[in-house]
Amino acid sequence: MSQAFPEWMAEVQARTEAALARYLPVAESIPARLHQAMRYSTLGGGKRVRPLLAFAAGEITGALPEALDAAACAVECIHVYSLVHDDMPCMDDDVLRRGRATCHVEYDEPTALLVGDSLQSLAFDILSRPLRCGPADAPTRQIEMVRVLARASGSCGMAGGQAIDLASVGKPLSQPELELMHALKTGALIRAAVLLGALCGKAMPEAEHDALDRFAKRAGLLFQVVDDILDCTASTATLGKTAGKDAAADKPTYVSLLGLEGAQRFAGELESEAMASLAPFGARSQRLAELAAFIAHRKF
Ligand code: IPE
Ligand code: IPE
Ligand code: MG
Ligand code: MG
Ligand code: MG
Repeated sequence: MSQAFPEWMAEVQARTEAALARYLPVAESIPARLHQAMRYSTLGGGKRVRPLLAFAAGEITGALPEALDAAACAVECIHVYSLVHDDMPCMDDDVLRRGRATCHVEYDEPTALLVGDSLQSLAFDILSRPLRCGPADAPTRQIEMVRVLARASGSCGMAGGQAIDLASVGKPLSQPELELMHALKTGALIRAAVLLGALCGKAMPEAEHDALDRFAKRAGLLFQVVDDILDCTASTATLGKTAGKDAAADKPTYVSLLGLEGAQRFAGELESEAMASLAPFGARSQRLAELAAFIAHRKF
């Protein structure tokens, strides 16, 4: 693999931006305000970690980029919907996201609610379109992909994790309880991104599927542990979202449970476990390994 990681990352991010711009309704089409708000929330920001994970996992199964565009954009649409709702006054009540006013501040609360609803529908619309370069058993695969994303998004995935998050304000959680909350609210979509990317290519032997799933679960938990750490160590300007919110809102996090150093140590352990689970893939998992390191050591 000749391309350096930063260049590969920039290329996938640009490709994802272009694909999202195509999938999203045009800004002028009726209802224009809703469509503008969907484009405002989705385009022009974010690290695109989930699309990057889908493309990286696709390298393991030899997936084609056209199919990966669909997987990457579907999971990013669910992610953006989760951010738009997460920022609303009834949840975390945030005014800044990706360096800009949050959707409900720039538009209004009903519009933000509908942006989330519409992005969720768009995600499944994208996944159910004919996969232009998919595998021979594309329809069966696509049903599997729809199921993976649906389960990761719903009450036993992201939405369920958000419910636990909201119910846990002011309550100290045990480590297993906190791990479950994080695995659901953030881990589920990270895991789905990896599995969807792999599903775009050739079928995997069961042992490889299990190893990839182990990686995805560790990387998902790692992502939220680092999010907890950055909330109390990074600045609002660097994060593009208000820093220090977790302590201010009395949310249970890995920092509140283990202290900053304990959380950093735990993140290191998760990174090592994620890397170890890539052993069966050799060079095919280079991008996934680079992404795990990026997730662990990112500054925003
Ligand atoms: C933030 O996710 C919310 C969490 C699930 C922790 P990201 O850190 O991936 O946000 P963007 O997409 O880069 O803005
Ligand atoms: C967000 O967790 C998880 C989802 C959006 C599903 P946080 O509430 O910690 O995310 P940020 O810090 O606002 O991005
Ligand atoms: Mg939240
Ligand atoms: Mg939040
Ligand atoms: Mg956070």
